[in-house]
Amino acid sequence: MERFNTRIFKYREALYDSYIPEKPLHRDNEVRRIMEILKCSIINNIPRNILVYGKPGVGKTLVINYVTRIIKNDEGLNRNLICCYINCKNLQTRYRILAEILKSFNIHVPVSGWSSDKLYLLLRDKLKDTNCYLIVVLDEIDEIIKKRNDSILYTLVRLNTEIGSSRVSIIGISNRVDFLKNIDDRILSTIDGVKIIFHPYNLEELRDIIYERVKLALNDNVIDFNVLDYVAAYVMRESRDVRKALNIIRLAGELAEKEGSNKITLDHIKRAIKHLDVKIYEEIVKDLPLHYKLILYILVVLSNEGRRLTTGFIYSIYERLCSSLNIEKLSKKRISEIITELENMGFISCKIVNRGRYGRTREIHLNFENLEAIKNCINILSGDFDEKERYNKKTS
Ligand SMILES: Nc1ncnc2c1ncn2[C@@H]1O[C@H](COP(=O)(O)OP(=O)(O)OP(=O)(O)O)[C@@H](O)[C@H]1O
Ligand SMILES: [Mg+2]
Repeated sequence: MERFNTRIFKYREALYDSYIPEKPLHRDNEVRRIMEILKCSIINNIPRNILVYGKPGVGKTLVINYVTRIIKNDEGLNRNLICCYINCKNLQTRYRILAEILKSFNIHVPVSGWSSDKLYLLLRDKLKDTNCYLIVVLDEIDEIIKKRNDSILYTLVRLNTEIGSSRVSIIGISNRVDFLKNIDDRILSTIDGVKIIFHPYNLEELRDIIYERVKLALNDNVIDFNVLDYVAAYVMRESRDVRKALNIIRLAGELAEKEGSNKITLDHIKRAIKHLDVKIYEEIVKDLPLHYKLILYILVVLSNEGRRLTTGFIYSIYERLCSSLNIEKLSKKRISEIITELENMGFISCKIVNRGRYGRTREIHLNFENLEAIKNCINILSGDFDEKERYNKKTS
């Protein structure tokens, strides 16, 4: 790994997600439990599966990679152990997942062209011949379940009956806390895994994890404890996501560096937080479907002009915008649903108001707290349609 020595950073990588710490802090119980299940499965040659879930940034991926690394190097187990880590966000189809598992056996198959059944047979025969214990980690497993690609789970479980004395265990990881609620009973009984929940860290634990990383990443005396405590307290309130804390410190360090400062101050931290918030809005806005973008655009522009926003008014502007962009408009009912969904995403809040004989309507308020977020939002959206001027002319 490359090292950057600067007046702020002595090892910047330690603040990135890709950095793997020696040992996870404050996860001893989870580590022990997962280790026990896997060791027991390996020693008895009876495969068990594990389902891990918990909110983002609570150390799920880290712990699983740590445990599989320890187990792999445990010579006392006396078993040929193969671990294959797959992030289902990147590899979702049965074909690509099987191809990735085959890679762990040094079998490389074309990216496409073969049938997934052929890959299955290759894997089955390889497992039959090698007498090994295969652990497949499916990180972000909800991605394949959401896309209905879950047949791979049956495939992997079924392998156990066709591979002699080799065995396969699955470790599924999900950051959706409601994961088990939404998962089909059929899939659940196929995996039949031990469920392990990762609870969010408390303030003390967050602080320890942050301190440890900062000690590795920053030069001595670059950041004061009270500034770090501010970050820990902020993240504790906001999401309890360790990743967020590390990102804030890294960005604040980069700001300090750019300004030629020897220290990361509270002001750098606050600016980094603001910047990251804007970035998050940007990411979400970029991925919205077209009509969501249109509605959000109208809301942002009109709200910026201080207009009172009601569903009916927004719909009339939306109709005009669609016709000027030559886009087929959606029904009033659908737009009303989209407004509700934008509310669920946290962009806006709605209040029902009674307008006497005109009936009831929803009054909408934009939730962006800082001007920069609004400005960026308009830029992203108008960049998409390239129609801001025409739209302004029409509504003025
Ligand atoms: N207990 C811990 N000790 C040290 N570092 C930790 C710990 N928990 C999390 N981290 C660090 O926080 C970051 C996020 O952790 P990780 O990627 O494991 O989270 P996750 O639960 O898998 O999140 P997601 O659901 O978003 O994938 C990583 O940089 C990781 O090294
Ligand atoms: Mg993860």
